[in-house]
Amino acid sequence: MFCIHDHEDYLSRRNVWVNGPVIVGAGPSGLAVGACLKEQGVPFVVLERADCIASLWQKRTYDRLKLHLPKQFCQLPKLPFPEDFPEYPTKKQFIQYLESYAKKFEINPRFNECVQSAKYDETSGLWRVKTVSTSNSSSGGAEVEYICWQLVVATGENAECVMPEIEGMSEFGGDIVHVSNYKSGEDYRGKKVLVVGCGNSGMEVSLDLCSHNAQPSMVVRNSVHVLPRDILGKSTFELAVLLMKWLPLCLIDKLLLIMAWFILGNTEKYGLKRPAMGPLLLKNTEGKTPVLDIGTLQKIKSGDIKVVPEIKRFSRGRVELVNGQNLEVDSVVLATGYRSNVPSWLQESEFFSNNGFPKSPFPNGWKGNSGLYAVGFTRRGLSGTSSDAMRIAQDIGKIWKEETKQTKKRMGSHRRCISQF
Ligand SMILES: Cc1cc2nc3c(=O)[nH]c(=O)nc-3n(C[C@H](O)[C@H](O)[C@H](O)COP(=O)(O)OP(=O)(O)OC[C@H]3O[C@@H](n4cnc5c(N)ncnc54)[C@H](O)[C@@H]3O)c2cc1C
Ligand SMILES: NC(=O)c1ccc[n+]([C@@H]2O[C@H](COP(=O)([O-])OP(=O)(O)OC[C@H]3O[C@@H](n4cnc5c(N)ncnc54)[C@H](OP(=O)(O)O)[C@@H]3O)[C@@H](O)[C@H]2O)c1
Repeated sequence: MFCIHDHEDYLSRRNVWVNGPVIVGAGPSGLAVGACLKEQGVPFVVLERADCIASLWQKRTYDRLKLHLPKQFCQLPKLPFPEDFPEYPTKKQFIQYLESYAKKFEINPRFNECVQSAKYDETSGLWRVKTVSTSNSSSGGAEVEYICWQLVVATGENAECVMPEIEGMSEFGGDIVHVSNYKSGEDYRGKKVLVVGCGNSGMEVSLDLCSHNAQPSMVVRNSVHVLPRDILGKSTFELAVLLMKWLPLCLIDKLLLIMAWFILGNTEKYGLKRPAMGPLLLKNTEGKTPVLDIGTLQKIKSGDIKVVPEIKRFSRGRVELVNGQNLEVDSVVLATGYRSNVPSWLQESEFFSNNGFPKSPFPNGWKGNSGLYAVGFTRRGLSGTSSDAMRIAQDIGKIWKEETKQTKKRMGSHRRCISQF
């Protein structure tokens, strides 16, 4: 049934007809949809701008990264993690799991194909997906147009880095990297490093810098919820999920904050003011992830990591903070977050809003009109991905089965004819 037809057109752009959906992105979300579609017997094509699966994990994360949530909340549909994996698998183990996942379900993405635009053609009832090759080989720059029935957006919540523009940055002189290019504190031994941002990345990188004898200062411009990763030997996340069966979010938030206070103490004393809204409510309403502490707070308490307020401006080898304090700084790590890139290529405004997320929140943000789907935009990490992927595959599988039944009735004629080829 798997059916792709390539056509060289006279303007040198190849046209590829996909008899099924095109999935954009070969991260965990794209792979999960692919695996579920395989089970439904639906053919598909996965397009990936990088040269490997799970490029965020393989190329844009630091060495010491481990999953923050227990493995049962991070596994993809139809394949549990190996039993000998620890509760919080390392980045290497997670990548190993994803490689075996792609192999088991025979998912072979078309690598080095960056989707530049995707548009629904009302007349033909088909999606037109244009890519450009990112390969360094002779095919670099080549353009292809995929034509398909459905489009599954799996480009992730973290597709692009948020790079703030701060006055004087160009005069600074030292190196400034986004955390997606930070690998280890090894390169920073003995240096004074300014870490901008206090999400999970900023907190963990500050800890990593400490372990490598660097001197980190972490910029906290706002409030932040820090929770212990584990409470009484149980993962805080697991505990919250358990409590959600019986209690409203606001009450669970209160309980979490009481437990956090007992375990971590008053974080405000160390410059980490808590938001007025509780951690789960804040995550649900604004998508702001609480920090799960794995040792950073202890280093803040001991003074090994300094908490500093927002930056006013950079100058050569220095930074001035909004409270007037001046710091000498050798290097800067911007742990300032990520954003979706969907608005830059998807020509559609009904289903996705201009922040690159579906307008309808979880659990309704997986299906749009005209065969458009989204996976992995739930702000619920990998467990949200699994739930989206199963729904999408079921929906497409149902349509596929109905269509193929009718096609058989029409005695072997093609599903529909693409006249321009
Ligand atoms: C440092 C870090 C740690 C994390 N840890 C956890 C965790 O422990 N647990 C958890 O549940 N979540 C975690 N997350 C959230 C994370 O986003 C998900 O785990 C997961 O990677 C999401 O998968 P995804 O496939 O939706 O997105 P991604 O993994 O980002 O994959 C999207 C893919 O789409 C490709 N792509 C993007 N644009 C295009 C384009 N135009 N054309 C073609 N391809 C394109 C990208 O190259 C990428 O390979 C973490 C995130 C970060 C940044
Ligand atoms: N081990 C793990 O599982 C792990 C590790 C790392 C990350 N992650 C996940 O990856 C995702 C991204 O996390 P992240 O920490 O990279 O990003 P993030 O959660 O979006 O945090 C970005 C941080 O940067 C700050 N910031 C942004 N612009 C700034 C500026 N101009 N000046 C000062 N501060 C600025 C933000 O402050 P404001 O709040 O004021 O905007 C925030 O503290 C999250 O889902 C996270 O849970 C998971």
